[in-house]
Amino acid sequence: MKHALLVALARALQRKPGGFLFVDTHAGRGSYLLALGKKGGGVARLPEYPDGIGRLWQRSDLPDPLADYLALVRGFDRRARLPPTPRFYPGSPCLMQMLARPQDRLALFERQPEEASILRKNLGAERRARVQVGDGYASVRALLPPPEKRALVLIDPPFEDEEEGGQIVAALGEGLRRFPSGVYAVWYPLTGRVRAASLLEGLRGLPKTPTLVADIIVEPNAPRMNGCGLAILNPPWEFEREARSILRHLTDILARAPDASSSVRWLVPER
Ligand SMILES: C[S@@+](CC[C@H](N)C(=O)[O-])C[C@H]1O[C@@H](n2cnc3c(N)ncnc32)[C@H](O)[C@@H]1O
Repeated sequence: MKHALLVALARALQRKPGGFLFVDTHAGRGSYLLALGKKGGGVARLPEYPDGIGRLWQRSDLPDPLADYLALVRGFDRRARLPPTPRFYPGSPCLMQMLARPQDRLALFERQPEEASILRKNLGAERRARVQVGDGYASVRALLPPPEKRALVLIDPPFEDEEEGGQIVAALGEGLRRFPSGVYAVWYPLTGRVRAASLLEGLRGLPKTPTLVADIIVEPNAPRMNGCGLAILNPPWEFEREARSILRHLTDILARAPDASSSVRWLVPER
């Protein structure tokens, strides 16, 4: 969901010929081996992709923005013939690398040095990208406003500590102060533990910036994460319509319960 919307956001910025800066505050390693399940309590769990990208993998009936995203993910697997199941999955830096034009730039922040060095390897000899080891929240001060005068900032934290929401809102406040016309996208999980409502309340309190909220719930009664959301500040022209189409199709494809749902709504309306 996050990556399909991210690709659509980048494509919207690419409708103009001028380059833009992509900032990934929490970049990760750029590539994921899908056969590996997460480890929990020392026990390897089953891989999760069959209920995610696995459900889209062989589809040929997707609307344009989702088909565009899927083509990039398939291309990332780099095999001559499409394998029956996906093997590698691109993280946000590699997705953006695949679609960046010569005039676009990528600034990728990752706090863990080992992850950052894997990311550098995964990007190869890439002149448009710069990987920085450090706190991604500091990137807004270091990089905004960008010389390109256009930027897409993805804030995609792991939500491991209770303070995350406060840090996100503070970084956005600083970002908007320095660069009010930037496009900012914040991912958040929908669980009982992380209160999305308080994060959204924090976003509502930012200096008046049009904010669209897209979310999807694939299994309302799931014990842990049951869905996720993406808040987009300053969404590009007509992005709302595109987001609705993406989410409607994703909900049908990813539903794990009959009452799966999604919504796209304005948290702060356009002026
Ligand atoms: C959910 S992953 C990022 C996924 C990536 N954006 C993607 O879509 O492929 C979160 C990453 O953030 C890193 N991280 C955690 N806190 C951070 C911080 N304050 N600044 C930068 N990176 C951080 C973690 O090491 C982890 O690799």
